Amino acid sequence: MYFITGNRHKYEEAKVILGEIKMLSVAYPEIQADNLEEVVIYGIDYLKNKIDRNFFIEDSGLFIKSLRGFPGVFSSYVFKTIGNEGILKLMGGERHREATFISVVAYYNGKTHIFKGECKGKIAEKVKGDKGFGYDPIFIPEGSEKTFGEMETEEKNKYSHRGRAIRKLRKYLESC
Ligand code: IMP
Repeated sequence: MYFITGNRHKYEEAKVILGEIKMLSVAYPEIQADNLEEVVIYGIDYLKNKIDRNFFIEDSGLFIKSLRGFPGVFSSYVFKTIGNEGILKLMGGERHREATFISVVAYYNGKTHIFKGECKGKIAEKVKGDKGFGYDPIFIPEGSEKTFGEMETEEKNKYSHRGRAIRKLRKYLESC
């Protein structure tokens, strides 16, 4: 089975849960939709006749409550432009720091199957930790005092949106 992604961190996280999967970096259109499901369904439709094995893709976003869900489906663009420091600036002085990470996995085996994972938490006051990627150093999941950026992959997976979505995929695969 392939995980089609250009992100090695995502691949490592998925591999810890699923075991032997292959990373395949094939570009596919990531449309600007207002929810993550639409993005992955479009991606699967584009890829399904081009890939010779079962595969999955994944799309995620960070939704900050006090910013009314921003950056959400714009997470990738916002990370590339203002980054973690920019988010912390936007949150400056804000006491309500709740945020949710959402991951949507779409698996294709002749049919498309969608698995969603959510992780509630909060935006840290400052950047902490140098592990992981993206918003990891500014996100503290519920139940922990550490940011994802301070966690090894196994620990992040216990809490994370992606860990939850991929475990749902594993459960589905075990039932086949
Ligand atoms: P995408 O799923 O690669 O489109 O991710 C959207 C944006 O959210 C990118 O900037 C990623 O770096 C960031 N992101 C996605 N998942 C995570 C995560 O698990 N930790 C931190 N940042 C993430």
